[in-house]
Amino acid sequence: MLVRFKLNGENVEAEAQDDERALDFLRRLGMKSVKEGCGEGECGACTIIVNGRNVVSCLMLAPELDGTETWTTEGLSKDGELDPIQKAFVEVGAIQCGFCTPGMVMSAKALLDKEPNPTEDEIKKGMEGNLCRCTGYFKIIDAVKKAAKEKGEKN
Ligand code: FES
Ligand code: FES
Repeated sequence: MLVRFKLNGENVEAEAQDDERALDFLRRLGMKSVKEGCGEGECGACTIIVNGRNVVSCLMLAPELDGTETWTTEGLSKDGELDPIQKAFVEVGAIQCGFCTPGMVMSAKALLDKEPNPTEDEIKKGMEGNLCRCTGYFKIIDAVKKAAKEKGEKN
């Protein structure tokens, strides 16, 4: 079917198979930040934001994106400048191999869009669907705190 949706702020129309996963569809459209880890909804590497919610794209079908507003990490930087969340991940050292990072960043964005000043527990809850093999999570939590602070100072 023809899927018409807003992807990273742009109107997009593209053909998708009825049984194509949103993960594969988005990668086919060039969104290579959307990673396949487990393929079973467990790791969060494929996290995207659909209509304001962080969802795992490996468990979603491409036709379900029709009519949505969808964001991947590709849509975050503007004019070559990283989004404050991306910057905080880099500055705090919350990235090692980087495989989990785009999904982490999207979950952090969904959280901060909803709750600009989250407590540590809210951060842990907001990020609980995203697994990281490398960092031990402390720096990821620090990065989300730093991003919240910096976004708050900008507004
Ligand atoms: S690849 Fe989708 S949750 Fe792991
Ligand atoms: S940085 Fe390697 S899995 Fe998270």
